[in-house]
Amino acid sequence: MTHPTRRSVLQGSGALLASAWLPRGSFAQSDLKFESPLAIPPLHRGTVTDGVREIDLTVRAAQTEFFSGLKTDTLGINGSYLGPAVRVRKGEKVRMKVQNTLDTVTTLHWHGLNVPAAADGGPHQVIEPGATWTPEFTVQDAAATMWFHAHPLHQTANQVWAGLAGLLVIDDDASDALDLPGTWGVDDIPVILQDRRFNRDGSMPYATSMHDEMAGMIGNIPLVNGTVLPKVEVGHEAIRLRLLNGSNASIYNLEFSDGRTFQQIASDGGFLNAPAETTTLRLAPGERAELVVAFAPGETVRLVSVPGGTAGGGGMGMGMGRGMMMEQSPSFHLVEFRAGQSLAPSKPLPQRLNDLAAPDPSTAAATRPFELAMPGMGPMRMLGLGGGFTINGKSMDMGRIDFEAKRDTSEVWVVSNVSPMAHPFHVHNTQFRVLDRDGRPPAPGEAGRKDTVVVGPQETVRILVHFDHYADKALPYMFHCHILEHEDAGMMGQFTVV
Ligand code: C2O
Ligand code: CU
Ligand code: CU
Repeated sequence: MTHPTRRSVLQGSGALLASAWLPRGSFAQSDLKFESPLAIPPLHRGTVTDGVREIDLTVRAAQTEFFSGLKTDTLGINGSYLGPAVRVRKGEKVRMKVQNTLDTVTTLHWHGLNVPAAADGGPHQVIEPGATWTPEFTVQDAAATMWFHAHPLHQTANQVWAGLAGLLVIDDDASDALDLPGTWGVDDIPVILQDRRFNRDGSMPYATSMHDEMAGMIGNIPLVNGTVLPKVEVGHEAIRLRLLNGSNASIYNLEFSDGRTFQQIASDGGFLNAPAETTTLRLAPGERAELVVAFAPGETVRLVSVPGGTAGGGGMGMGMGRGMMMEQSPSFHLVEFRAGQSLAPSKPLPQRLNDLAAPDPSTAAATRPFELAMPGMGPMRMLGLGGGFTINGKSMDMGRIDFEAKRDTSEVWVVSNVSPMAHPFHVHNTQFRVLDRDGRPPAPGEAGRKDTVVVGPQETVRILVHFDHYADKALPYMFHCHILEHEDAGMMGQFTVV
């Protein structure tokens, strides 16, 4: 194994930082050197006392050295940027002990999990500066790669931007029995995709222009697990990647630089019924996917994001629908994989991964429309004549509960997008199923459990939601666009489960 010299690392990230001020189309990231070992968020299992797993999470202000010799102000959970990978097991009791050492309020939301409303960590579960929040719940969800992030009202985008997010991995008997690549950071690799906008001095302030408020904050530098220009030394014939799009606004269209096929084995809420073979994967903010990728000895390949996308989502510098007058992002490279000369054998991928029944909308107790809109965008907004982000004509109001859903029933939610941008629609407290997109059945990668689904401009997506286990007349859950600038600007609503 060769170690990068300090000089080559500097050439790599230095070149990237300098290139960020060139016109977008002119930076060719294939010239850059991917020399920094990918940071692997440490597993955090906490400690079990009296049958409860307690997980300490301390939210703090810190500095992070993304670029050699430059210090960047960041927020982190236990660490300086992002958090540990919290690892829990289905069926166990968990107590999260979240300590806020910031001088501002925050919250931590368990994205994707079925939890009591009081434990959800949304805008109603504010943690004051200096306070500690200790929600308890039983892990109800099947094995999956979930995540957690800050979620205070109007402050989600800037806090996540600064670093308040982490992975939450759930195991269960079924995942144990599958015997997939599972050595953390070796052949089971977390991949948190983000982009951040850095200044030459290394700072990454959250400073939005009017354009950013509309399109969402798009970065000039890709980060993977907080690493700039990362590389992974591959020592096995097959590796599993647990992808999370933890960006504020960028929708990535992922491929490998050689166009190789790979297997998608899981979506947001766990395993697909069977591996879905593909060469391309669209991942919007909030979405996760698990992949298994095969390697030959000695080869080098990069995970890249390419322009375009079926629902109008692009990556960095884009995130806009087709037909919007926005610049098109060039391709950009995210992480390099280098396979060793001899690779340890990997087990063949099981052909059966899960046993999800086809979703059956005929059982639904209610059908609800959700119309995503950006009223008064464009010329009106430029002239200062309003503008906003709405669902069914309303912007988020903590004091308004939009509807009640009944526990243990299914509902069909009809999500239509009448705006010119793609919106990743997310629902708390559930893993739903995609019924159709404009009447067409979902692609195999979207046919499993989901908690976030991209709805393209002028598209209608029907989902079948189900709320298990918990009811609370008073405290709501959220549904919202996971472009964090849109969420903070009001494209969010609230429902209770009764
Ligand atoms: Cu990932 Cu309401 O959040
Ligand atoms: Cu959520
Ligand atoms: Cu949106």
